[in-house]
Amino acid sequence: MPPGPCPISVRFDNMIAGVLEGGGIDPARFGAPGAAEPGAAAKEGDLARRFHEASRVVRSWRGRGVLGFLDLPDNRALAARTLETAAALRGRCDNVVVVGIGGSALGAAAMRDALLPPGWNELGAGARGGHPRLYILDNPDPDTTAGLLGRIDLSRTLFNVVSKSGSTAETLAQFLVIRQRLAALERRGEARDGRSRMRDHVVVTTGRDHGFLRRLADEHDLRSLPVPANVGGRFSVLSPVGLFPSALAGIDTAAVLEGAAGMVERCANPELLKNPAGILATLLHLADTELGAAVQVFMPYADRLKGLAYWLQQLWAESLGKAVRLDGTRAESGPTPLPAFGAVDQHSLLQLLMEGPRDKVVVFIARGSTDVDVPIPRMNDEDPRVSHLGGRTLFELLNCERAGTAEALRRAGRPNMTVAVDRVDARSVGALFMLFQIAAVYAGALYGVDPTDQPGVELGKALTGGLMGRPGCERPTLPAPDPRWRV
Ligand code: PA5
Repeated sequence: MPPGPCPISVRFDNMIAGVLEGGGIDPARFGAPGAAEPGAAAKEGDLARRFHEASRVVRSWRGRGVLGFLDLPDNRALAARTLETAAALRGRCDNVVVVGIGGSALGAAAMRDALLPPGWNELGAGARGGHPRLYILDNPDPDTTAGLLGRIDLSRTLFNVVSKSGSTAETLAQFLVIRQRLAALERRGEARDGRSRMRDHVVVTTGRDHGFLRRLADEHDLRSLPVPANVGGRFSVLSPVGLFPSALAGIDTAAVLEGAAGMVERCANPELLKNPAGILATLLHLADTELGAAVQVFMPYADRLKGLAYWLQQLWAESLGKAVRLDGTRAESGPTPLPAFGAVDQHSLLQLLMEGPRDKVVVFIARGSTDVDVPIPRMNDEDPRVSHLGGRTLFELLNCERAGTAEALRRAGRPNMTVAVDRVDARSVGALFMLFQIAAVYAGALYGVDPTDQPGVELGKALTGGLMGRPGCERPTLPAPDPRWRV
């Protein structure tokens, strides 16, 4: 995809000594701008040097082919296959339900929240431009699953079952429930021609070679879309995992990929001060390891970006929270990402951020403009408690809340940065996804850990399997509850 002008900037002056009250990073540590080439290392500051070393590691990972997400914006064949599959199903469903969890759900949810009008699933078909509603079934909570399956018309629903491994218990269990409901439709004669409804109602997105979903897709001749082997779950939003449901709902996925492509190019810049992902990774790593700011608050001031904050939480936590370093030594490192939402959490978390322990750094996510704004009417102009509001707009208020909060944190010596998009649209959202994914791998290199694996989740999965009676899994004996420790 051809990259266009990049709609994102990262402002980090509130991290810098002389700006951040009473602390901050010595600007000399960035080195002389332009001193980016290895030969010019003597002029570099230590942060620039650290970033160059991290870039070298990331380039070697890329050379080994393990960072497949970087190639997704240019994978025209995969994008075309995704769009063709969506086009083949257009007009055939009123509801799309993504069945998946973790990286197989959070990206689609983030894209839906950011790029479809608010309350999409409550709008009529006309207001949706004929596109389907888009639901996500991730948690196997019976209230949620039964509630959704009970209120949508299954005969007009497409289930996109998404699992890279094809064997995730939460996803498969819900899919088995759905399969039974579809079979019941057939038995009631609601099938159009008595054929199996599976092919009409299920599209599988999964890794190519293994897993139960692949077997199922082959057995029932289901439509299926691949997750490339070198694209990890939490790095898969720009693969069919995120793009297929988005395309069905009418999102301009080509523009999403275009925004992402531009960010790949920008974030390949070896100069730290010209590389937005490098800056995010280097400063958040420093905040954790030198300033003691292990809690990293990602705080969009746009309801549309709430899903992005949850997606980012998973990306940051699962990529960086590791027990072992690349060199085999013990690490037990990683920052704790915390999604927060402006301005709502000014009335919840801000007191703690301002006056609590100095173990936090805030990354605001701001937008420069909005498609829809609401003017605040002039009323009670004689009353100074509201006279300053009348004549302004809700968007202005929200932006002033963000700027005021960033300044208050600065004055309190609390480090913060701002990632700003011109507007929330398909290009900028694609660019944001790519920016944070690249930042996560740079941060992995800075921590000296593998950002693409997640060995820590395996034990819990195996124990769950054992408790559910999965063959081959040892059934664990859980410690008996001790009545002394229950109240
Ligand atoms: O990032 C990851 O790899 C995980 O969060 C996975 O996305 C999650 O565990 C779901 O896995 P799968 O797509 O195999 O069902």
